[in-house]
Amino acid sequence: MTGKLSRRGFMQVGAGLAASSLLPAAAAQTPAVHTGAVKPVVIASGNGQQYRNGGKLTCVETAFEQIAAGKDVLDAVIAGVNIVELDPEDTSVGYGGLPNADGVVQLDSCCMHGPLRRAGGVAALEGVRTPSKVARAVMNETDHHLLVGAGAQTFARQLGFEIEDDLNTETSRKLWLEWMRRVDPKHFLDPASRAQAGFRAGQSMVRDGLIDPEHFYGTINCSGINAKADICGVTTTSGLAWKIPGRVGDSPILGAGLYVDNSVGAAGSTGRGEANLYNLTSYLIVENLRRGLHPKDAAMEGLKRIQSNTVEKRLLNSRGLPNFGISFYVLDKQGRHAGVAMYPGGKYAVCDANGGRQVAMDALLEGSPEG
Ligand code: GLY
Repeated sequence: MTGKLSRRGFMQVGAGLAASSLLPAAAAQTPAVHTGAVKPVVIASGNGQQYRNGGKLTCVETAFEQIAAGKDVLDAVIAGVNIVELDPEDTSVGYGGLPNADGVVQLDSCCMHGPLRRAGGVAALEGVRTPSKVARAVMNETDHHLLVGAGAQTFARQLGFEIEDDLNTETSRKLWLEWMRRVDPKHFLDPASRAQAGFRAGQSMVRDGLIDPEHFYGTINCSGINAKADICGVTTTSGLAWKIPGRVGDSPILGAGLYVDNSVGAAGSTGRGEANLYNLTSYLIVENLRRGLHPKDAAMEGLKRIQSNTVEKRLLNSRGLPNFGISFYVLDKQGRHAGVAMYPGGKYAVCDANGGRQVAMDALLEGSPEG
């Protein structure tokens, strides 16, 4: 070997140094050992057992069927979320997702392959209906973890993904026009006050029943485990409806919208991405699994962290509690799972040998985000 290191070699040496001497001992641990066979299962946010895009199977049913047939777990969960990304009926993910303030659909996604210990993501990607597939291509074809904006689109084009001018459907365009009507025009010239007025206009549309509250922040997260206890996950979204162009939420960020550690489990999220980004809650939840917590308890601890870090007045309701919804979907190495939310009422999707279904989520707080 010569004294000269390639860039990749340099990075590997650097990573080795970090692992061996710089990180605290706790960061290198791998408990949460599982023994015995695992029953395969797929979990997702509620929309994972809602949309079929004209076919027979939902997201979780598709992913479970593929896992049961021995397919790669990441390919299976991505095939699952593709159904929702492509379904024009769902306005929170992929094609037909609610656009940004300029009426442009910008998509975020990431995926993690537990056994391969690899990950990829894209943010603010325009023109591709299935950003989860581009995230997987980032994982498979590059040694990067995240490509954004025009660069992500160029990458997708070069790999042969179809790039469309506009991912709006008739429905998402009409909702955007209604939102434009509701934003007080005096705010339009100033981006900061436009953002706040725009947020209020969006909330008024949720109150008036024009947008499903779950679609305001959009998103599907889906994770699966096979009989070998290999775990993979994916998260994909059109993000916050009417967001400032370029706004990126938690969904494409490893540790926030999704985190997978094949020796421990997976966690992913839907809901207010900013709250999750601040706390990197999916990573926190997986670390809680590593400490031996049940998925439900691990996730409740994550929600408590979010609540305790929510101190800004504009994020609190009249009861002094978070005025937003956020949910987590957690799967551990034994195939145990949980869906938890800040407030009650939501459901998450599960598919195992008993078939696909929605299951009520546990909530940290009572009442609703409104107070
Ligand atoms: N959780 C999706 C977003 O905030 O963009």
